[in-house]
Amino acid sequence: MSHNNSRVKVEINNLKKYFPVKKGFLRKAVGHLKAVNDVSLRIKERETLGLVGESGCGKSTLGRTIIKLYAPTDGEVIFNNNGDSISVYDLGKKEMKKVRQNMQMIFQDPFSSLNERMTVMDNIIEPLVCNNIGNKKVRGDRAASLLKQVGLREGYLKRYPHSLSGGQRQRVGIARALSIKPKFVVADEPVSGLDVSVQAQILNLLKELQSEYKLTILFISHDLGVIRYIANRIAVMYTGKIVEIAKREKLLNSTKHPYTEALLSSVPKLGAKKDRIILEGTPPDPVELPEGCIFSSRCLYSQDICYNESPELTKQKGDHFVACHFSDSLDLRGIN
Ligand SMILES: Nc1ncnc2c1ncn2[C@@H]1O[C@H](COP(=O)(O)OP(=O)(O)OP(=O)(O)O)[C@@H](O)[C@H]1O
Ligand SMILES: [Mg+2]
Repeated sequence: MSHNNSRVKVEINNLKKYFPVKKGFLRKAVGHLKAVNDVSLRIKERETLGLVGESGCGKSTLGRTIIKLYAPTDGEVIFNNNGDSISVYDLGKKEMKKVRQNMQMIFQDPFSSLNERMTVMDNIIEPLVCNNIGNKKVRGDRAASLLKQVGLREGYLKRYPHSLSGGQRQRVGIARALSIKPKFVVADEPVSGLDVSVQAQILNLLKELQSEYKLTILFISHDLGVIRYIANRIAVMYTGKIVEIAKREKLLNSTKHPYTEALLSSVPKLGAKKDRIILEGTPPDPVELPEGCIFSSRCLYSQDICYNESPELTKQKGDHFVACHFSDSLDLRGIN
């Protein structure tokens, strides 16, 4: 099950999440939108796995389904809970509540996760209250020490979220996610709404907290610059599927999927070699997916087989997985 010596924290097998597409007066289901379309992934203990891809490719849906905020359509998630392998979707409500304590989410817009009517203090300790952990004194102390850890003065405990800046709110959102001492955190675009300088502060904070709390993180972003800064490994998603996954340097330098190549070339500050690749068209409609490779309609290198056969995500040299019929023969450009 595990590979590369490091232990697997979260194992995702053939995960699917479809949303029904409804039409007409009676709202009859007429099809499915395949937001997550057969994803298998391993997230290793204490790593930050970066999940990158363009808007609408299914990143948030994948993150939420992994921690069962959305019910899956199919597939399984195995969570390593201190050595016990737990099949998350097989758990009943009560057991799930217990396991959920180890899984938290950090959101892009802290306003959606913070309760505006509650003080910063009450927001931070809410997960403890919900799970009946500690008494008033314990919770208060935890909130005070967390606030300090995320770089806010104690005076902020009595404030309300509306009186905080975006960066401060995100710090409170992080304190709240960590108050219950989770082991696995899904961070969904946690810095996307922030100024670049504040982004760097929050990313550094997350790095520090990760080592202190021994966290395993799935870090979702459409911004490769951010992903490159924070991730140990990178998974590239396209229309519901993972098309490439590898250690950061490998993915960036020895790119093996044409979509990754195009993504990299579109970020000038990464120092991509040669010209920018402009992809024509748009990703396929996840309600009516094409036969063959999902990227074939936009790929610069498509051959006949690409329009007919869907390539599997297969292991290459090293810990590098690619879903492309021609990953061996193409000479793609990464960055330096
Ligand atoms: N609750 C829902 N009901 C129906 N369709 C949904 C729902 N949530 C997401 N979708 C659809 O699923 C697909 C994936 O959406 P998702 O939000 O996961 O993308 P994303 O990669 O997180 O995008 P972004 O970068 O914009 O946040 C999209 O086509 C979206 O319209
Ligand atoms: Mg999203």
